[in-house]
Amino acid sequence: MTLGLIGSGMIGGTLARFAVGAGWNVVVSNSRGPETLGELVAGLGERAKAATPAEAAASGDLVVVSIPLFAYTQLPQAELAGKVVIDTLNYYPDRDGRLPELDSDELTSSELLQRHLTGARVVKAFNNITAPHLSSLARPSGAPDRSALPIAGDDAAAKKEAAALLDALGYDAVDIGDLTESWRSSPNTALYCLPYGGEAPSGLSPQELLRWFLETPGAPLPAHRVRQLADEAVRGPAGGALVD
Ligand SMILES: NC(=O)c1ccc[n+]([C@@H]2O[C@H](COP(=O)([O-])OP(=O)(O)OC[C@H]3O[C@@H](n4cnc5c(N)ncnc54)[C@H](OP(=O)(O)O)[C@@H]3O)[C@@H](O)[C@H]2O)c1
Repeated sequence: MTLGLIGSGMIGGTLARFAVGAGWNVVVSNSRGPETLGELVAGLGERAKAATPAEAAASGDLVVVSIPLFAYTQLPQAELAGKVVIDTLNYYPDRDGRLPELDSDELTSSELLQRHLTGARVVKAFNNITAPHLSSLARPSGAPDRSALPIAGDDAAAKKEAAALLDALGYDAVDIGDLTESWRSSPNTALYCLPYGGEAPSGLSPQELLRWFLETPGAPLPAHRVRQLADEAVRGPAGGALVD
């Protein structure tokens, strides 16, 4: 199996490493060109190669898109048609600019991506965990301290493939619905990133809490808790705020 990756930064690079560890081939890509990915590919080893986004899309049995949302219109539509596309994207207006369809809740960011990627089958995943916790909380299938991640998508078969990918990369999957429901794991919800930090010490100021969260290795979040947080989610304003 080959995993194509469009975007090979913090999330894409981590997923590429896990995929190689699980015996997959990976094709990584970014905006600056394959020649800028030599160090990443060397670290990943023989199963990895660098390519353009179009080549990564064409060669992937599944393709992870892990770029800033502002760049989604540059994704290679033709090469992604027919593919299962794993969407890690989140909307951060300070970075991505304001997107009226998202601000009005007319669309989720995943629906916006799906609308652009005609013919692809988009599954939202890996968007609600920070890259360090994604690294530290991965566990083999069946481990008692395994964590779960939510997935959302409109195509049942694509979600099955995405769940199998999550399983291979160290996580259980919890299906939280179709792409219209993907807001349940987006910024400004209780399922977004914080629960993977575990229980915070009491009495911390907001700055201390942030520092604690960024430094903690995290704590396992089992599937039943992901399900509960998704079911109880309350839709906040679209778009997260970046912290310094
Ligand atoms: N970091 C996290 O903890 C985290 C957690 C969950 C979800 N997310 C979301 O996942 C996405 C990626 O986040 P990240 O932190 O991994 O970002 P990142 O470290 O900044 O990496 C972004 C990657 O996307 C590439 N890229 C940018 N524009 C592109 C384009 N037009 N075509 C192809 N590749 C392009 C960049 O390549 P160049 O360097 O060559 O431009 C880089 O490899 C974002 O939407 C983010 O909100 C992040």
